[in-house]
Amino acid sequence: MSTATLLLKGKEYELPVIEGTENETAIDITSLRSKTGAITYDPGYGNTGSCGSAITFIDGERGILRYRGYPIEEIAAAATFVEVAYLLIYGHLPTREELDAFDERLTRHSLIHEDMKKFFEGFPPSAHPMAILSAMMASLSTYYPESTSDETRDLNMIRVLSKAKTIAAFSYKKSIGQPFIYPRNDLNYTENFLHMMFAVPAEPYTVSPAVNRALNLLLILHADHEQNCSTSTVRMVGSSGANLFATVSAGICALWGPLHGGANQQVIEMLQAIRDNGGDLKSFVEKAKQKDSGFKLMGFGHRVYKNFDPRATILKHACDDVLRELGLRDPLLDIAKKLEAIALEDPYFVERKLYPNVDFYSGIIYRAIGIPTNMFTVMFALGRLPGWLAQWKELVEDKGTRINRPRQVYTGAAKRAYVPISARGKELVHA
Ligand code: CMC
Repeated sequence: MSTATLLLKGKEYELPVIEGTENETAIDITSLRSKTGAITYDPGYGNTGSCGSAITFIDGERGILRYRGYPIEEIAAAATFVEVAYLLIYGHLPTREELDAFDERLTRHSLIHEDMKKFFEGFPPSAHPMAILSAMMASLSTYYPESTSDETRDLNMIRVLSKAKTIAAFSYKKSIGQPFIYPRNDLNYTENFLHMMFAVPAEPYTVSPAVNRALNLLLILHADHEQNCSTSTVRMVGSSGANLFATVSAGICALWGPLHGGANQQVIEMLQAIRDNGGDLKSFVEKAKQKDSGFKLMGFGHRVYKNFDPRATILKHACDDVLRELGLRDPLLDIAKKLEAIALEDPYFVERKLYPNVDFYSGIIYRAIGIPTNMFTVMFALGRLPGWLAQWKELVEDKGTRINRPRQVYTGAAKRAYVPISARGKELVHA
């Protein structure tokens, strides 16, 4: 094993160096504080490996993304979302029997307790579906006891995966004032979601194979992305021993932010604003470059990808295919392509290695298949569930897991004496 030498205050320390399967190098600092009294400082965790994980590999410089070793391009072209969920959670591609059994379990657990339907009545019609999804997800813990037995843990993962799509579809029905549509056991996972979203009791609904294919692709591309903000949240909350439903609910909340999964909604709103402003792309690009404008080019940039995001490449091509298959034209796609072309020529974006990310083109496809804009981030959450579950399973099965608890560099006031209220305002104020 190689080591790294740290020179601190004139003293040398040897720290072990570990290497991952794909030769990523990490300095193991687990003994740093006990040996030296010092900690590392890495706000935003850009250089911190928070765990070892065998689930997803990303090489941001070369635009590589693999689930359990399989390239995303191959998976996206051939697999179904349920197959990918199995792969991520259990570590191998399922046999036909394993897949059928998994599918069957997902089907059997898709109903939510009838009492939970009442919860929806309490939310205002304008409620954001991410708020509903996270609240309902945490509420599932009131129906299903937590357990450390492998069997119940596994069942709870199935419950999360299966019921989330029912909750998501119900939240949409609630927002448009239509009756809830129950899942049908003759439909598969994605078909069932589309059925619960778009069917009405008054007439038959047939799932379009083209829409179903597009949905599978979107969910697959979002299924895992190693230690991103929401997944790290899941690991953080899970490390305290919180139950799975509460843990996933926390992940949903983290995903909601506009710098993370919430960006997909913001991208479409940005493209609409550009269209409504007469298509003046250049002024939006200029505004994104001005730091004090508070505006960013949404769907651009990534902490890890510094060349291209392979998911965005797949989605850009898929946009044309899906729109053609569905016989649609979307002026927002033309705006998005022109915006990308302008940004990629602009030294500001080139120098900072800012490229379209997964959220840049996904909204065009969501729109084409009828998903309303405020549901886009919910779709991201549905896609990301297998990743959260796989990472949580890896965490709880790792005997070496400790509660996640970073340290800090304290920058506040040094020790000072308490001032009684009668004397406050009279003492000297120190900055
Ligand atoms: N528009 C304009 N400038 C940007 C953008 C952008 N979209 N993204 C980054 N920059 C600038 C940033 O201001 C900084 O400039 P400078 O060096 O002059 O200070 C430089 O590029 C580096 O950016 P950063 O903010 O330090 O990078 P980060 O790794 O901390 O943040 C990011 C990554 C994705 C949060 C950021 O690029 C961003 O806010 N993008 C827009 C939101 C977005 O699309 N989010 C979805 C991410 S992908 C899906 C997911 O997994 O969530």
